[in-house]
Amino acid sequence: MPNPLDQMISKGAGLAHEVKARLAGLVGVFEALAEQHGEAGALLVRAQADVDKRAELWPTIRASLRAHEKGELAEVYPVFREYPELVALADQHEKEASELSITIDQMDAMEPAGAQFGALLDRLVTLVEAHVVEEEQQIFPKGQAVMGDARAKELAPRFAATAKKVKQSDL
Ligand SMILES: [Fe+2]
Repeated sequence: MPNPLDQMISKGAGLAHEVKARLAGLVGVFEALAEQHGEAGALLVRAQADVDKRAELWPTIRASLRAHEKGELAEVYPVFREYPELVALADQHEKEASELSITIDQMDAMEPAGAQFGALLDRLVTLVEAHVVEEEQQIFPKGQAVMGDARAKELAPRFAATAKKVKQSDL
């Protein structure tokens, strides 16, 4: 029987492997966003595996997810709206982003070691997983194909600066 730490490490390794495979082909801001997905996923797996670590990990998880979402909404999806064939993807993303932030706000009002928090953590993981699959398999490749590699690269420093600012104000 593997102990919880071994399980966590093997899950983490699996996640890192998956992330690497998914990153193939994405450049600029899309590559940066996909890397953040991997980092958030690893933190969430650790929090799920260890109740005692949740209080310690939660501020970082919350700040990372909020910075990612706010950075996307401020610097990436408005650019999607400049291209008629990408507008529907921006609309679709916006609806789901609000569900994610509602769950984060609910968890923020709870005790991280409690059962209710644990149930919402499972829900958050499901939402983040759906967000990651949708963006990395559908939204990012299409966005990159339509706007081109040069534009995707140009957006990267702007996204990084906004996400950093949001994260600092949240921690
Ligand atoms: Fe994302």
